[in-house]
Amino acid sequence: MIKFLDLQRITQKYGDEIHEAVTRVVDSGYYLQGAENKRFETDYAAYIGSQYCVGCGNGLDALTWIYRAYIEMGVMQPGDEVIVPANTFIASLLALTDNGLVPVLAEPRFDTLELDDSRLEALITPKTRSVLLVHLYGRCAYTEEIGRLCQKYNLKLVEDNAQAQGCRYTDGRHTGALGDAAGHSFYPGKNLGALGDAGAVTCNDKELADTIRALANYGSQRKYVFRYTGRNSRMDEIQAAVLDVKLPHLDEDNNARRAIADIYYNGIKNTHVTLPVRLEGKQNVYHLFPVFCEHRDELQEYLKEQGIETLIHYPIPPHKQECYSQWSSLSLPVTEKIHSQELSLPISQVMTADEADEVVRAINAFRKNV
Ligand SMILES: Cc1ncc(COP(=O)(O)O)c(C=O)c1O
Repeated sequence: MIKFLDLQRITQKYGDEIHEAVTRVVDSGYYLQGAENKRFETDYAAYIGSQYCVGCGNGLDALTWIYRAYIEMGVMQPGDEVIVPANTFIASLLALTDNGLVPVLAEPRFDTLELDDSRLEALITPKTRSVLLVHLYGRCAYTEEIGRLCQKYNLKLVEDNAQAQGCRYTDGRHTGALGDAAGHSFYPGKNLGALGDAGAVTCNDKELADTIRALANYGSQRKYVFRYTGRNSRMDEIQAAVLDVKLPHLDEDNNARRAIADIYYNGIKNTHVTLPVRLEGKQNVYHLFPVFCEHRDELQEYLKEQGIETLIHYPIPPHKQECYSQWSSLSLPVTEKIHSQELSLPISQVMTADEADEVVRAINAFRKNV
């Protein structure tokens, strides 16, 4: 049986160090906003290449705080528009609508799966304030054209880096340091995963970082003095300590994912199955390995029979969800095609080459004589 993601094996990989770190926190008697958070924030900011890192409760909150802070700072106001890819996890949109901002759904390209920059300018109106760029599947979505348009129209470029820790643009910069601010998720299944929920914002703007830190701490900058109507969304010390154990291994873990991706790219040869293009020079981190098939559900069932677990990311696009029924009649054919054909193959830093070979063999035998 090849699991989609074996979290137990992933934690065991650095098990001794993780147990030591957790025990240190348990024994310290200090569980929130202490030395572990400070250390991880410093280390993660240095890794990403940004000046500030603010830990928070999860990735959705990280994105929500960025936009809420821009509103508190007077940079944006409710009713303003934010361009966001239509093929994303719902959290990207929730961060906007929770703040009264209006998501403008942009089509991706089918080959790269990322925002189609050739269609971006047509979506910009006098109300547009930001582009929320999602590095979906661990693939760098940034292009020079996106950067140029954000500069030209004075738009805040916010990155949703939930799926792309360690990913780099062609010039070597990490995703999460390519725009004005970035939201990161450390949900256990992410490339850098905690043992529970955790998230962070990175940016180079002190006012933004200070505002977010206050918003995530009841709106307070000084104990019992409240400037904003904030919430409680902090990273706990155990998660920070665990993440700081795993961070130095992130590049090595991502290399292991790349080795699995190489086996898939070199080995999968089946006319029914399409792989996404490899982007020259971009160092993707293969959070997920999506393939596309017109007979997706049949392929998933077939792989299950072969003992191979797969998942769909995601079966229903945000604009077809009940919570966003106001957009259900939008025509977004590329997005809908992706959602109807996508299947994610197993990939992780603990998957073996033999397991990947088995997946290749199974896929190559799918509908062989059809
Ligand atoms: C693209 C994207 N954005 C945001 C999030 C939200 O992160 P979290 O689960 O930590 O709230 C996720 C992950 O689940 C995600 O995949």
